[in-house]
Amino acid sequence: AALEAKPQRLAGRHILVTAGPTHEPIDPVRYIANRSSGRQGFAIAGALAALGARVTLVAGPVTLPTPAGVTRIDVETAREMADAVDRALPVDAAIMVAAVADWHVDAAVQKIKKGDATPTLSLSENPDILATLARSPQRPALLIGFAAETERVVEHATAKRARKDVDWIVANDVSGDVMGGDSNSVHIVTKDGVESWPRQGKDAVAAQLARRVADALEPAQPMR
Ligand code: CTP
Ligand code: CA
Repeated sequence: AALEAKPQRLAGRHILVTAGPTHEPIDPVRYIANRSSGRQGFAIAGALAALGARVTLVAGPVTLPTPAGVTRIDVETAREMADAVDRALPVDAAIMVAAVADWHVDAAVQKIKKGDATPTLSLSENPDILATLARSPQRPALLIGFAAETERVVEHATAKRARKDVDWIVANDVSGDVMGGDSNSVHIVTKDGVESWPRQGKDAVAAQLARRVADALEPAQPMR
């Protein structure tokens, strides 16, 4: 008999991933950004697809190739990311890795000229995409946020998990040069406690997280 391929653990699941920074325009030629490279989120999208999931990746402005088997939607601003996330629903799980700008600028329509008065940037809060999804009637069965912290990492992440009402927070210790770097030191904060993973490459973090997601979506078979 022919060998059967091992069924892929996330086959039939639709999973949303956000990744990268957002850019918030100041005027037509300038923007506010952050140091997110998008690499961890792209690696997670690829690892989920490798386990057979249908993956929608909503990506901020990054120069990374689209991982195999992933449907990518490119956005620029936090508000565009919020709309793209909304259009991707429903999903079985969402992993919000993006470093979403907390504020946007009341942008000038024309380029601000140096000869003008020195500009003052007027900021308004962006929608919290993760918290909105947590309260949505379309809340996924498994909702995961990321938190980049530079100090008291687990403490901040534990508070953030409760505040945003999400299932897990993946707390990322960015006190070194993680943003843009090759490796990540993460703690998985759930309602049951904290799992601290060893510092490892972003692809290894992604593969381990994808397996953890598969475990969570596929509860153990009852003993018989
Ligand atoms: N997030 C989001 N929309 C925002 C801000 C954050 O979806 N407008 C998501 C991020 O993708 C991440 C999680 O929320 O999964 C935590 O982001 P973080 O910036 O750590 O949390 P904030 O609530 O913005 O708190 P602060 O930046 O003050 O630490
Ligand atoms: Ca933030």
